[in-house]
Amino acid sequence: MVIAFAQPQQATLVAFRGSLIDFVDDPFYTTEQDSVRYIADGLLVVEQGFVREVGSFDRLHSQYSQIPITDYSGKLLTPGLIDLHIHFPQTEMIAAHGEQLLEWLEQYTFPVERKFQDSAYAEQVAEIFITELLRNGTTTAVVLASVHPESVNAVFEAADRHHLRLIAGKVMMDRNAPDFLTDTADSSYYDSKALIERWHGQGRSLYAITPRFAPTSTPAQLHLASKLLNEYPGTYLHTHLSENVNEIAWVRRLFPESQGYLDVYDRAGLVGDRSIFAHCIHLTDAEFQRLSEAKAAIAFCPTSNLFLGSGLFKLTHAKSTECPIQVGLATDVGGGTSFSLLQTANEAYKVVQLQQQTLSPFQALFLATLGGARALGLEDKIGSFAVGNEADFIVLDARSTPLMAFRNPAISPSSLSELADRLFSLLIMGDDRAVKATYSMGKLVYGG
Ligand code: GUN
Ligand code: ZN
Repeated sequence: MVIAFAQPQQATLVAFRGSLIDFVDDPFYTTEQDSVRYIADGLLVVEQGFVREVGSFDRLHSQYSQIPITDYSGKLLTPGLIDLHIHFPQTEMIAAHGEQLLEWLEQYTFPVERKFQDSAYAEQVAEIFITELLRNGTTTAVVLASVHPESVNAVFEAADRHHLRLIAGKVMMDRNAPDFLTDTADSSYYDSKALIERWHGQGRSLYAITPRFAPTSTPAQLHLASKLLNEYPGTYLHTHLSENVNEIAWVRRLFPESQGYLDVYDRAGLVGDRSIFAHCIHLTDAEFQRLSEAKAAIAFCPTSNLFLGSGLFKLTHAKSTECPIQVGLATDVGGGTSFSLLQTANEAYKVVQLQQQTLSPFQALFLATLGGARALGLEDKIGSFAVGNEADFIVLDARSTPLMAFRNPAISPSSLSELADRLFSLLIMGDDRAVKATYSMGKLVYGG
């Protein structure tokens, strides 16, 4: 049964006072002055779940004196965070010790994903998963379910109950995985098709066609994935690419006719402007160039890349002017070690530092908001406080622990450089404790 999308119950017009920060452009390519919008004492006015107006409290409050105003003075209001790659069935196996990718999949991941054949179990974990996203200020996520269609239903239903925007899909894998987790090229096509018909465009749900990664799909399955993409414009292609050196060597053995890992997907017709590739650590220059030309997106997963010992993503290359690629930030739980995109930004900063480069706090927040929205082609709906966008936003407290309160004064930053320092401390020291409230389409869905 499809659960109809319920518009959150709320007053027609509501407003929120606080320090507003969002982006009007990409801080990797423009100055902070031209890309960051900061209103130290701002008002965010929401009408029926959409942004109606943003401005200074001084300018707007007399105009909106009759409507309820929630006061978050002294706190930062940012657009809801966007997680570009996360595995819902891996929620319970976060922090599994000792292995790198291929062994980790065999030893920990596949046995856990088996449990999702049981829809009651999938529903139970889906509720925990969605709650955890909201506790961490994530209001949009691109999610891999398990191979079982029931797991996709469970996660979309849970997201729908919380009015959360979700892009999800059934993992397709017809080889090189245990029998209890494999589908066939045909069954994966028909199961995915039925799920697309049921969920894609329902309420806030969108579908991602999700071959797990090249090693677990036959060429026939990859071709059927591409057929689905063509049959259902607006769906996404979501998979892994070039994460681990042993994985890449395996892909070469499995697809000897291909020029390289990305070419496997390219030959199947899976590289385009709605494709999201997680990791991309060991790409060749030609592969970077191809992703740029195709306008495909990369999900940068720093906590996972460090935890699984996969390597350092070349963010500066992906965001260069010669080879610009859409990049968003992603947790990749359970390879990743936290649901928090603040903690993910913390590790992103260190990944870039290890390459003798730097990541500004604004660039990091951009990756987790407007950058993610652009990677998804959804910047007209989410990722910023642009008028008409869905009012997904979070309230961040830069004094949420004793040490953060000691570090940061109570008054709001009054300049961009003060703001950069405050934001940086939030990214490096902050986690779920810093998320005071999460709003989805103007409705409070976590905290208060
Ligand atoms: N590559 C194929 N499957 C997975 C997975 O579940 N996690 C990660 N990090 N990489 C993968
Ligand atoms: Zn992953």
